[in-house]
Amino acid sequence: MARYKVTVVGAGNVGATCAHWIASKELADVALIDVVEGAAKGKALDLAQSGPVMDFDLNIQGSSAYDITADSDVVVVTAGVPRKKKPDGTFPSRDELVKTNQDIVAQCVRQVVQYSPNSILIVVSNPLDAMCHVALHESGFPSQRVIGMAGTLDTARYKAFLAMELGVSVRDIHGMVLGGHGDTMVPLPRHTSVGGIPVRELLAEDKLQAIIERTRKGGGEIVSILGYSGYYAPAAGTVEMVESILKDQRRVLPCAVYLNGQYGYNDLFIGVPAILGKNGVEKVIEMDLNDEEKKMLEISAQAVRDVVAVLGY
Ligand code: 2OP
Repeated sequence: MARYKVTVVGAGNVGATCAHWIASKELADVALIDVVEGAAKGKALDLAQSGPVMDFDLNIQGSSAYDITADSDVVVVTAGVPRKKKPDGTFPSRDELVKTNQDIVAQCVRQVVQYSPNSILIVVSNPLDAMCHVALHESGFPSQRVIGMAGTLDTARYKAFLAMELGVSVRDIHGMVLGGHGDTMVPLPRHTSVGGIPVRELLAEDKLQAIIERTRKGGGEIVSILGYSGYYAPAAGTVEMVESILKDQRRVLPCAVYLNGQYGYNDLFIGVPAILGKNGVEKVIEMDLNDEEKKMLEISAQAVRDVVAVLGY
């Protein structure tokens, strides 16, 4: 098997958990980067020491210096300020983070592209869709190589909630969540099935709508319980994309991709189904949406545009 290398920028909860799962699936060597030298170096060393027990044989390094990232195939950017409870007990919206995280993501991307000019960037930092614009702008990469992680996370949450409600295996839930990563995301009940059976045959509409609402607020629910953002599911959604790219699996995954005419949108990152393979976005799949779904996607697109406008590009 070819040996791959993945850089994870940000050794916080999401970044470190990405590194953990990349290692446990033995997908690639890992370079973990953090502005706090000890965080990346210490977590990488700790993870490397689990190799003999967990049965992976990989080169895992951590540093605040980007030279260790050279020649990465995929770079995952998780750096940024997370959603933390404010002193007054309320939570910042993802969009409030935009300016701070724009600076952080821009700096990280400028450095990674110097060392890995042919890599594929997976953006995880929030506000997600806007940070994809930052990564595209700063990297100068073709849009095929800049992809945002949100749909895989939102879809995982949606499937988990459905499985819990129906008392069935998560494996048998099929479905997808489109749109931006925010409260306007677009779950698609019309395209959701349970072992091939349309979900509406098994679940009353009010329960389905409650699950959709819970999915939309899924990130916030975790923040309100934990006091900070979730990381297992965000990291899992990321590693699902990393694996599809490295192994050229051509999975059909909902991702934030740059639209250039598809779905009637131009110059906008938004979550739609895409085929992910060795070149990044191999193809954007254009689904046949009904009027209601198109309307929801437009509301979501407008929410993304509003944040993108703040970037000042
Ligand atoms: C989430 O949805 C914070 O965006 C992150 O959990």
